[in-house]
Amino acid sequence: MAGTAHRNTGVEGVEGGVGLTALMVAAARAIETHRHDSLARDVYAEHFVLAAPASAGWPVRMHQVPDGDANPLWGRFARYFGLRTRVLDDFLLQSVHSGGARQVVLLGAGLDSRAFRLDWPCGCVIFEVDREGVLAFKHKVLGGLSATPKAARVPIPIDLRADWVAALTDAGFDAAAPSVWLAEGLLFYLPGAAETYLIDTVDRLSTGGSALAFEVKLDKDLLEFSDSPLYTSTKHQIGIDLLNLFDGEPRPDSAGDLAGKGWSTSVHTPFDFTRRHGRGPLPEQRDALAGNRWVFANKPRP
Ligand SMILES: C[S@@+](CC[C@H](N)C(=O)[O-])C[C@H]1O[C@@H](n2cnc3c(N)ncnc32)[C@H](O)[C@@H]1O
Repeated sequence: MAGTAHRNTGVEGVEGGVGLTALMVAAARAIETHRHDSLARDVYAEHFVLAAPASAGWPVRMHQVPDGDANPLWGRFARYFGLRTRVLDDFLLQSVHSGGARQVVLLGAGLDSRAFRLDWPCGCVIFEVDREGVLAFKHKVLGGLSATPKAARVPIPIDLRADWVAALTDAGFDAAAPSVWLAEGLLFYLPGAAETYLIDTVDRLSTGGSALAFEVKLDKDLLEFSDSPLYTSTKHQIGIDLLNLFDGEPRPDSAGDLAGKGWSTSVHTPFDFTRRHGRGPLPEQRDALAGNRWVFANKPRP
């Protein structure tokens, strides 16, 4: 599989490159947590932001944002991350509680604290796959808080552009048992070949009764809406140039590929869930979120 240095930088931790996006999502979750009408609560999120020099001065409460909800980054985009967190919390919990899987694999886990926040059934194992520097930072912050996971938690420091299967199976993942997979805010940073490998691999390691959720961006969104306020304000306010971090190659049709392998799939816009929950982002002109799709896939039992 592909190269070693990450697109744009060689940075492996949260201090720059794609790792810094994990801190951006953590700041968004911190803000969401303290909204009166929060969609998801993550009490750990603000600790990551406050601990990292790279996010010094970033807000963790809405009142620290001078223009509040009118701010494209800390208003609308942060709300997007809050909604995404809630929807994927619900997907994971529903999959383990009613689907019966006891293995959960968070691909590109970043500063996701679900192992610590959600009520997992007995016997659940949460595998967290991300690059070493990101997981080391997470470990340090959570260790400082004496945080206790609510399920067995297994960090797997590896680059998803490498062959990550051996690392996962060596860590105890059992391909013969059902599993639940999540790739949240990840695939558009990977080369198309790494995404295809990831989807093929999830299929190969998933027995009937397994489930997968992932987020993609349609090509047109990546190309057409580069002047969207979400992208420009993220670049100007916190120095993250998302368009530069996204992989520029045409994207594979991963939902279609899974359907071709016999999975049942459903594809949603985030706005579908805004309407369902009565809060969250709604469509805008020249919208960086217009091409985001959340895909839910289930592998039927034989
Ligand atoms: C936007 S963050 C999302 C993190 C988390 N899923 C969430 O939603 O909070 C993207 C994450 O993907 C990880 N990532 C990107 N490319 C990766 C790669 N090639 N291998 C492993 N992790 C990667 C980054 O380190 C970062 O933690």
